[in-house]
Formats: sequence, C-alpha cells, structure tokens
Amino acid sequence: MTTQQYDYIVIGSGIAGLYSALLAVEHGSVLILTKGGIADCNTQYAQGGIAAAVGPEDSPSYHLADTLVAGAGLCNEDAARILAEQGPHAISELVRLGVIFDTADGEVALGREAAHRMPRVLHAGGDATGARIELTLSSLAHHSRIHVEEYVTTTRLLVEDGRVVGVAGLVNGEGEEVEYLGAHTVLATGGAGRLYRYTTNPEVTTGDGVALAFDAGAAVMDMEFYQFHPTALRLPGAPPFLITEAMRGEGAVLRNVNGDTFMTEYHPHGDLAPRDVVSRSLLAEMRRTGAGHVVLDATHMPSDRLAARFPSIYKTCMTHGLDITREPIPVSPAAHYMMGGVLTNTDGETTLPGLYACGEVACTGLHGANRLASNSLLETVVFGQRVVRRSLEGGWTGPRPEGALALGAEPSAEAGAPSLEGLQALNWSNVGIIRSKEGLDEAAGVFAAWEAAPPRASAPNGGGRASRELANMVTLGRLMAESALVREESRGAHFRTDFPETSDEWLCHTVFTKPTLD
Ligand code: SIN
Repeated sequence: MTTQQYDYIVIGSGIAGLYSALLAVEHGSVLILTKGGIADCNTQYAQGGIAAAVGPEDSPSYHLADTLVAGAGLCNEDAARILAEQGPHAISELVRLGVIFDTADGEVALGREAAHRMPRVLHAGGDATGARIELTLSSLAHHSRIHVEEYVTTTRLLVEDGRVVGVAGLVNGEGEEVEYLGAHTVLATGGAGRLYRYTTNPEVTTGDGVALAFDAGAAVMDMEFYQFHPTALRLPGAPPFLITEAMRGEGAVLRNVNGDTFMTEYHPHGDLAPRDVVSRSLLAEMRRTGAGHVVLDATHMPSDRLAARFPSIYKTCMTHGLDITREPIPVSPAAHYMMGGVLTNTDGETTLPGLYACGEVACTGLHGANRLASNSLLETVVFGQRVVRRSLEGGWTGPRPEGALALGAEPSAEAGAPSLEGLQALNWSNVGIIRSKEGLDEAAGVFAAWEAAPPRASAPNGGGRASRELANMVTLGRLMAESALVREESRGAHFRTDFPETSDEWLCHTVFTKPTLD
C-alpha cells in the first residue's frame, strides 16, 4: 500500500473544495482528491448565482431576515448571521481570485430569486455562474503546492485514537487502496441528488462525504430536509436540466397545462414563493390537471434579452428542439439540494477531531428546513475561509451533540437486491416531496436490508467506484428515511401527510450517529 503525506487533504473539487484549497495552500501542502475529473461537480451546474447584500438598498440584516424566514424556524441563527455579514467580503474574495460578475450600466447586476425581498443575486455569464467560478478556481489550483488527484474514489476516513489522520482511496476507482495522510482533512464532496429519480444534480452527487463521515463515527444532522427545485426541464428524452428561479425573478410565469396561472392561489408571493411551497403547489396543480408537468412561460419577454440573460438554458432547450422565446418550457420539480449533512460548528469542525466539512456536505444548521436560493455558493466561501482559519489555531472545539439517535429500522424481508434504479424510485416516491409514515417505514426497512446486502458486505474492498457509490447512497437513503420518520410534523421541505402542521415541539434538530463498538 502506497502512502502519501500532506498538511491538508481536501475531498471534492467544486467551489467548496477549490476555495478551501486555495486558502490552505498559503499555509501548507494540499492534496485535492476528486472521484471524477476536476469539473465533475455540482458547482459547474449552478445557474442563478450567489446571494450577498451588496446592493445599495440592501443590508446583511435583510439578507439574514430572509434566510431565517425561508428556513422555517430552524436556522442556526449564528451561522446565518455569519453568512449574511460576511457575504459582501466573500464576493470581493471571488473577484480577487478573478471571477467576473455580470454588470449593467457599470454596476454589478443583481437578479431576483424566491423569498429574497429584493434583487440580491450576483451572476456570471448570465446563467453560467457556477461554470465560470469553477473554471476560475480550477485554473488557480494548478499550483506547485496543490496536488490534484482526479479519478480517486475515497473509500474510508483513517481514524487513529479518535482523530481523522487521512483517507484511503482507489485510484481510477478500482484496485488496491492507497493511503493519504493529512494533518487536516476537509470534506467538500457536495450533495446527494442522485439518490432521486429526478434531479438537477450531475451523476457524481452520491452523498459520499456524509456516508464516509457517518461510517467513521461523525454525527450527521437534519437529513430529513431535502430541497426540491420546482422547475427542472421535463421533456421526453432530455435530462431534468435546471431552469433557474432567476427566470421567474425576471418575469417568467408558471402556468398549468391549460395555460392558466395558479401560484397566487397557493401563496401570496405567487411565482416567487419559497421553493418548498412552489414545489408542492406544482405537484398539486399537476395532479389537478392530470398532467406530468406545468410550464414556465417566458414568451412575453423580449427574445434577445431572454437569450442573452439565460444563454445556457436557451441553448440547452434549443438542442432539444424547444425555442424558449416562442414556446413555454415544460417543467416539474426535481431533487436539488441537501440541507442536512455532516454536523459542524460555524468553523466547519465536525464531531471527529481532524475532520472539517464545508459546503453542501456540511450541516451548520444555516439553511434550517429550507435553503434560501443562492445561499449555497456563498456558504462555501464564507465557511471555507473559517475552516482554514480554524485549522491554524490548533486544538479542537467541534460540536458535541446531546441526544444523538441511532439507526434502528427493521430490515424488510422483501427488499431484494439493491440497484441504483430501485433506490432512486424508492426515494422519489417514499422520501420525496410528500411523505407519510407508511412510505417512510417501507423505505427505512428496505434501506436497512440493503445495507446488510451486497455490494458492501460481499465484494472485496467493498467493490470499485460504482458499488461504493451505491453503498453510500444506501447509507444516505436510510439516514433520510429514518430522520423523516422521527420528525412528526411538517416544516420547510419536510412535508408529511400524517402530520401536516408545523409544531413548536419540533423546534429542534435530528442528529444521528453510528453506535461505537466498545
Ligand atoms: C437556481 O438558479 O434556481 C438555483 C439557485 C439555487 O439553488 O440556489
């Protein structure tokens, strides 16, 4: 077994990983491990942009207030305040690194998205914000003290005397494990959209970081809160490509298949209601009209402006024969963002010394039960900076959750063998936008049975990349289903037909840990 040694090991190459790495390299050697190519990440697909209170009428206190309202009472207010207050500085950091945001009349152009009281979202290349950031940061990662290893599947966190001291991985996703030792390990592996049948996320989003951390003994929090984006492209033969909320912010309108607008019947903010409300309303409208989609209509907008402001959407739809300047876009909800994740404090420390988490894989509690649009790119920069600063201070002050739960579902006898398609269908129908005890019980039992089944149990080394990913998704599916079972209320993105009301008794977080074998 080969062993390599670094000051920092960063797992993941989206904005959270790259930005942390670019700061960390000022203080030591850095290894970035990524299971695909460097640009195979969710950041690449972020469209709407990055929220920050930089407008002349805006203030961090407004940004904070909007974040707390969207979070439906469950935001960690300290984390949300840090995000809002540090937002403008984070933007200047990205500009310092070379990101060029769009301007209008010489001022930074600000888009509007749901649940923001005013335009607050910076964008780049129109709707190519994530791709522009990824390109800028990844080109800077060609640095003499940053070693990027692409196509390495991380298989385990190495823990010695209760401290994470590095990771093991499979080069090219197969063969013998290689060990990488590091004084600080930063999880920046992103989200888990691939657990669902329909998702705006790319194939790499298999929840690896949460599964690695949980297996190593770290606490995970709020896994029942998973955000569905209301408007993903729904065309036969086309993947559910994201149709940014910023399009509604610019005036595009949701209509049912009969051509009628409907959102004001569901929420006073209409098309710009919080994302969880819009997703549920779309499902209701689809059920009412018997259609598999609604449409987003931008045909009344000037066509040259529409194509210039949303070039990626315009081009992608064109490749599927849809001219969005002339025809409404068929859309339906798709899995988009994991609010839960590896429990961290506001310095990115997890419950395992030596292990930090940053970005979508982490759960500071910042997003509460429903993330405010475009807070996610911002979070990576604000908290990435805090991770690196904390790593220089020494000592460990990570969270010590009380009342952590253990997974306990009885394995279902009828589960059969795990498969990606089966897992995605089960999660979509039973742990999706609308949930019930019956469906969650069924899902928890199937996931429990799959956890004891191949590939994890029988394949040598747990198998290669694909079987590792499937095993990780099973772990996450189980965590999501059991967390959702525990929370007997509806709040934000978590909606249960058997507990449709929000309850003050549930103004608390769900935390799970793996029981230790001693
Ligand atoms: C969007 O562009 O609609 C997505 C933005 C986000 O998820 O924050």
